[in-house]
Amino acid sequence: MEDLTSIKEDLLRDLESAKDLQALAEIKAKYLGKKGLISSLFKRIREIPPEERKSFGQKVNSLKEEAEKLIRERERSIKEQQLQEKLKSEWEDLSLPYDRSLGHLHPITQTLRRIIEIFRSMGFQVEEGPEIELEDYNFDKLNVPKDHPARDMQDTFYVNREGYLLRTHTSPVQIRTLLKGELPVYMVAPGKVYRRDDDPTHSPMFHQVEGLAVDREISFRHMKFVIESFLKEFFEKDLPVRLRSSYFPFTEPSAEVDIGCVICGGKGCRVCKDTGWLEVMGCGMVHPKVLENCGIDSELYQGFAFGMGVERLAMLLYRIDNIKLFYENNLRFLEQF
Ligand code: DAH
Repeated sequence: MEDLTSIKEDLLRDLESAKDLQALAEIKAKYLGKKGLISSLFKRIREIPPEERKSFGQKVNSLKEEAEKLIRERERSIKEQQLQEKLKSEWEDLSLPYDRSLGHLHPITQTLRRIIEIFRSMGFQVEEGPEIELEDYNFDKLNVPKDHPARDMQDTFYVNREGYLLRTHTSPVQIRTLLKGELPVYMVAPGKVYRRDDDPTHSPMFHQVEGLAVDREISFRHMKFVIESFLKEFFEKDLPVRLRSSYFPFTEPSAEVDIGCVICGGKGCRVCKDTGWLEVMGCGMVHPKVLENCGIDSELYQGFAFGMGVERLAMLLYRIDNIKLFYENNLRFLEQF
């Protein structure tokens, strides 16, 4: 009986000093293993007087159960302690500030979408054409024959394949749309265009939006109304608009559209070159030859067309004086939009 008590005391002391699962496994073997201290007590039952055997057996049994329980508990507490140490050593401070700024659409894309949305609300559909275009569509079918001085108005990039070029304007999308032969047409065509031009307000690549309406009984007044409505919505202002007589080979009559200077309000400044007016697009009634070139009877159908530079409109809307800022990918600039 004394042995039982001292075995339990030894076990408690051993468990207390066990620091890890390895040490615990050794303790388990020492007491409960085949040749362990408690297991060998069972073998000594024969040395006990018969009348005490039963109570001795019960005591050894309960010592064994208690030992198992103590070891299990110690195992749990060692594991818990190890977990806490691990959590402490692997802790990361997720509350540290980090850069969570989001990107957004480029100001030119924003301006393009703004333009397109206004025309869509007026019933125009979006058409697109390729940037490498047929010379025939970019010039000839638009009533700009070879050797015509108007070809020099737009210094062209040619590609090394006969009959192709980088489109100098989005007007060839007019031809592509008309050649489909579905009338009436109410379309706008956004996209990149290319010209040999390079200064603070010109870039060799820039964006245009073309517009075309072809239907029966289309008049100059329809054109004026559509363009004025567009400009007032685009600049969110009831600004003065005027049409100034001009020349384009693909329209007759042709006009240039001016708005009252949005920088100085018409008083005269550097941007409007002291005229109080800003030129924002070209337009006109589609030349009958253009319609005929696309197989449309110009006696039955008329149309108006217009074309505008997206960078120019964006520069006026956001008051930017150098077109190059749009292409430099300077985040300090772009983040302002
Ligand atoms: N294509 C002309 C340019 O790039 C702009 C233009 C003028 C387009 C008059 C038109 C138009 O559709 O009718 O300079």
